[in-house]
Parts: sequence; C-alpha cells; structure tokens
Amino acid sequence: MEKFDKAAIDARIREEMPFKHRWHNRFHLEMPFGLINDPNGLTFFKGEYHIFYQWNPLGVVHKNKCWAHVKTRDFVNYSMPELSMWPSDEHDKDGCYSGCGTVENGQLRVCYTCNAKDENGKRTPAQRFGTLQADGTVKKEEIVVSDAAPGYTGHFRDPYLFSRRGKRYFVLGAQREDEKGTAVIYEETEQGWQLKGELAHRLGDFGYMWECPNLLRFGDYEALIFCPQGLEAREYDRQNIYQAGYVAGHASLDAMTLLHGKFQELDRGFDFYAPQVFQHEGRNLMIGWMGMPDKDDDYPTAEKGWVYSLTMPRELSLRQGHIYSRPAREMEALRVDTSAVSLDSDSTDELICNLYDASEIILDINMGEAQKVSLELVYGLEKTVISYDMQEQSCVIDRNGMKLGGKGKRKFRLYSDGSLSLHLFVDRTAVEAFFQHGEETASFFVFPEKNIQPELRIFSDADMESLSGRVWELAGYSFR
Ligand code: FRU
Repeated sequence: MEKFDKAAIDARIREEMPFKHRWHNRFHLEMPFGLINDPNGLTFFKGEYHIFYQWNPLGVVHKNKCWAHVKTRDFVNYSMPELSMWPSDEHDKDGCYSGCGTVENGQLRVCYTCNAKDENGKRTPAQRFGTLQADGTVKKEEIVVSDAAPGYTGHFRDPYLFSRRGKRYFVLGAQREDEKGTAVIYEETEQGWQLKGELAHRLGDFGYMWECPNLLRFGDYEALIFCPQGLEAREYDRQNIYQAGYVAGHASLDAMTLLHGKFQELDRGFDFYAPQVFQHEGRNLMIGWMGMPDKDDDYPTAEKGWVYSLTMPRELSLRQGHIYSRPAREMEALRVDTSAVSLDSDSTDELICNLYDASEIILDINMGEAQKVSLELVYGLEKTVISYDMQEQSCVIDRNGMKLGGKGKRKFRLYSDGSLSLHLFVDRTAVEAFFQHGEETASFFVFPEKNIQPELRIFSDADMESLSGRVWELAGYSFR
C-alpha cells in the first residue's frame, strides 16, 4: 500500500465519524486520527468556505504533513473531512507545509511551502501553487520560488497572498542567516515572483523565527499577524513557548516599511497558534490552531490516536490599534433554544449552574463591592479557574486543578471600570473565552479525567452588584 492512500484514508475517516471518544469536541474541527495543526488555504469559493489544515494521518507526531480539507456554507454543516494533498515528489517529500488559498480565474488555487530535507537535515523550501480539483485533491503546479533567498536559512515558509493596487504579493515567515526572525515579501511580476525584501519594522530583535504571517487590511490600516519564536515570557504576556500576535499600523509596499504600534497577542490561552485570516464580504474571519508546538506532553488525546483542534471561526475588527475578536455570528445557530437558562441575580457573591456537554455562556457582571471574581469550570474534583482582580486589572487562567494535560497559569491585563463581560464556549475539551466584548480572548483545553458534566461556579470576595447571564446547550457541527 502506498504511504498516502487517499481512498483508504478517507474511508477510515468516514468509519470513525461521528467521533466516539468523550474527549472529542462537538463544535471544533478535529480529526478522528492523526495530528492536525495550522489552518491553511481559507477561501470562499462558489458559495462555500473551504478550510484546509495541516494533518499527519499516519501518527500523532509532527511528520508526514498533508493538507486535509472540509467545506461549509455556514460553519455548522460541513463536508466529511478528506485528504487533499500529501507529500508526493522530491520538492515536498518532507511535508506539504502551510499556505493560503485564493480564487483565480474561477478556480480555487492554493500556495504552499514544499519542504524537502537532505541527508544532513538541510532544508530546501519551495513555494508552489496548486489547484483544487473536483475530487477534493489539490493538483500541484508551478513552483514560483525554488529555495530560500540568499541571506536566509531553510526556515522560509508559509506564503500568504494579498493584493494592493492591482498587484499581487505574498508574505513569508523567514529566518535570517544571523538567526533573527522576519517577514519577507514577494511580488508577482511579468518575470515571475520576485523578492521585494523585508518589511522594515521597529521591533528590533524579535525572536529567531517568524511563522505563518498574514498581512491584513482593516479600512485605512493594516495589521501584520505572525508567530514569533524565541521571545521571553513576561509578567502579563508572552507566556506560551511561542506567540501568535500582531502589529497594527500602516504598511507601505513602495517604501517596504511598516509603521506600527506594539506587538500584541491575539489570544491569551494555552493552546492557540498559527492563525489564518481571510476576508469575505467585508469580514475578517480567523481560524486558529488549538495546540502548541513542542508541548506534546500537554495533550493526553495523543494516547487515543488523535491530537489538536481548530478554533471556531472568529470575526476580527481593528479599533484604536487593537484587534477585537468575536465568535463568528454563524455560531449562534448552534444554540439549542429550548435549553436557554438565565442566570440573573442582584447582590450576590455566589452562583452555581450545571453546564451541558457543550455550552455557551454569556455573562455580564457589575462588580459593585467585589474586587475579585472567579469563575470555575468544575469537573467533580477537578477544576479550571478564570479569575479577575479589579485592583490589579488582570485576569488569570489556572489549570493547576486539572489532573491530566497541560497545567500552569496564564496571566494578562484586562481593563475594567467595574463591569466585566465574558462570553464563554465550553466544548468537551476545548474552551474559548472572549473577554470584554472581544478585547481579549483565551483558547485552552481541559481534559477531565472522569466522564462528568461540568458545573459553572462563580464566586466573589464581596457582593457583586449584579450579574446577568445566559447559558445555552450547543449542538455539534455535522458532517456529511
Ligand atoms: C506552524 C508550522 C509552520 C509550518 C507548519 C508545518 O505551526 O511550523 O511554520 O509550515 O507548521 O506543519
């Protein structure tokens, strides 16, 4: 049998779905077997959103990188996931790495990095286009950049296409020979795709590698999203091994400069990396990878044969130099209307409520006398705690009360004048939290040891003036 046998792999997906294990999520994209990572090739094409993502169908390690593919019109009903592209020639024999999608002459085209290593481990990265075929596979076509540019190492990957004033470009994540991370831009010309250079920025030395850049437009502003590796943790940020964040401001492709504000993270949770954004009908929709490289011990599903998820789609907006994220409005269709429970109460310091297998919670708290509020997701004797401290204007997510999977805390600044809003999606193991109407978000996994429905407990150190909220059961995504 061939190493990547699409028919056999697709048949196995159909056999193993819907998911059986209680750690599998209901409204997060994942695979019944293998390892998934970065979302790739996000495109709206002929009435459907196409979502590709990195997938190793042969094991739960970072190897054999293929692209998986699903389609959806509404982010709720999906086509059955399938194998779409796999290592098949000397250029991409060591992986079909990340890339993007676009619509060109009525076809969905992708642009990705072919990864090839020689016997000494030296990489030759090539950037290549391909076209989606009716059978769900990507036909591999022209290689437009055959190797890293002079002055850069073999870490030269993850093309993201964009256009400005009628010209097409892509931005790549790269490592200079002096081992500094950066983003480089190529421009499409009549002579082919040509290196334009680096986008000059004011970040100074900022890690040893940048992965998965996205250059986005928000009205008159732009934002460069990227994933720097090699930054030190600080008291209120950069607490994961690698970051996913952005700088926002003005980019000039003539001057090749980026005038920008400070680097900010897109998500404050433990398990968020390599997001991709695409624009459709005025929306900037983002999907992230729920996972983290080089933290393999944090994910106990690996023993069950699969690992990682993608986030729900989020809608991004830029206001005063900051990116706000909200769950895409399509997620509202998952609400089971009859399940709605309201959590309203005045002057209280405690509230307890049973959650569903998959839940959405909207909470608005008026702190009143309270200085500290904690919100606990309780699974029998285990819990994960999100706590807010008014005095410090900070929020902490604490997984030390869980037995399995990653532990530790994540702390970040969160501003409040006494009102606190939280929008929480609690899937079986994937949790996504949106704070202060999308000012901050946090994505993280919790792997309850026992098969127990979670309970939500809210406590404060003094009476909260008021608390109003709503809880819904959410239906799962469906696949056919
Ligand atoms: C980010 C990343 C990308 C690369 C891909 C390989 O998670 O390392 O830079 O293209 O994953 O799977």
